[in-house]
Parts: sequence; structure tokens; C-alpha cells
Amino acid sequence: MKINLLYVVFGGILFSCFCFSCTKDIGYNPLIAYSDKALYDSCRNEEAFQYYKNDPAAVYSGSNGPHGAFKLKFNKIAQTALTDNGKLPAGNSFPDGSMVVKEVQHNGMYALMYKRSGSWLWAEINSDGSVAYSVNKDGGAGCISCHSQGGHRDLVVSFNFY
Ligand code: HEC
Repeated sequence: MKINLLYVVFGGILFSCFCFSCTKDIGYNPLIAYSDKALYDSCRNEEAFQYYKNDPAAVYSGSNGPHGAFKLKFNKIAQTALTDNGKLPAGNSFPDGSMVVKEVQHNGMYALMYKRSGSWLWAEINSDGSVAYSVNKDGGAGCISCHSQGGHRDLVVSFNFY
């Protein structure tokens, strides 16, 4: 009886592991896969960020991009690289752990890029945490095509306009 119970418990554990492995996110590039939820939480951690040119009130028109008017913020790791009057010097790269977030004004969406293992991860997450463009969708192909436009600095393009 005791042994049977052990089998049931052990079997239960095995079964839960099996279920978990089936439902976990599989990334576009499993080496740099990341969770939308973790990125959403980071975006909302105000203390980790500073607004562009240290101006929390500035709203940029966004007339060159797809999101409309926005606020722009960089986390503290990204800030360390902004040594050219608040911009990234041309030819430089942001360090791993950098996060750049566009706070879209008309709907509260976060459009973001997060540097991990030398590559940017891209995502769009709505204000309620629902996912508009998952970090694991396609490696940000739809974002990069436009962000590699002339004048970009490590794929960041706001420096071209603001
Ligand atoms: C059609 C071109 C285009 C596409 C597609 C695009 N962006 Fe952008 N993005 C821009 C431009 C231009 C800016 C500069 C600000 C502005 O005028 O909107 C920008 C700014 C940003 C910024 C602020 C940092 C920076 O580079 O200036 C983030 C973060 C961002 N976009 C995320 C994304 C994500 C995530 C996607 C894909 C889901 C995406 N963008 C798709 C054009 C684009």
C-alpha cells in the first residue's frame, strides 16, 4: 500500500513536469527566447528608467514611425551608453541588459527593445499586459526591417529625429 502511494506521488510529479514542458514558450531563437511577461514587468518598473534627455514631460510626435506620439525611456544600463549629448555615439553599441521603451500615448502600449546576448529582442505589449507583438514571434523581423534605416545607431532610430 505504501509503495503504491509512492508510485502515485512520483507519477504525479512526472506528469506535471510533462505538462509544464508542453506548455512552456518556445522562442523563435531558443538561445535568446524571453518572456513577454518579464518584459512587461520591466517596462512598468519606473525606477529602472530615465526619460530621454532627462525630460519626463517630453512627448515626441512619432510621425516617422508606426506608433504615433510617444514618450521615450532608457533603463539605467542603456543610459551608460548615451554619452553623445544624451544619444548613443555613432558606431557604438548598447551593452547587454539595455532596454529602450516607447510609451505609446494614444493606447498606453509599450513598444520595446531589450539587448540580450548581443542581440535586440523586440516586443509590443499593451497597457493591460496582453501581447500585441510577442518577443518570440519572429525575432523582430517586422521591426528590424524599418529600424535598420539610414542613420540608425545600433538599430535605435529616434536619434535621427529628436
Ligand atoms: C515603418 C517603420 C517602423 C517599424 C515597422 C517599427 N518601427 Fe519602431 N520606430 C520607428 C521610428 C521611425 C522610430 C523613431 C520614433 C518615431 O518617430 O516613431 C521608432 C522608435 C522605436 C522605439 C524607440 C527606440 C528607437 O529606435 O528610436 C522602439 C522601442 C520601437 N520603435 C520599437 C519597435 C518595435 C518593437 C517594432 C516591431 C513590433 C517597431 N518598432 C516597428 C519606425 C518603425
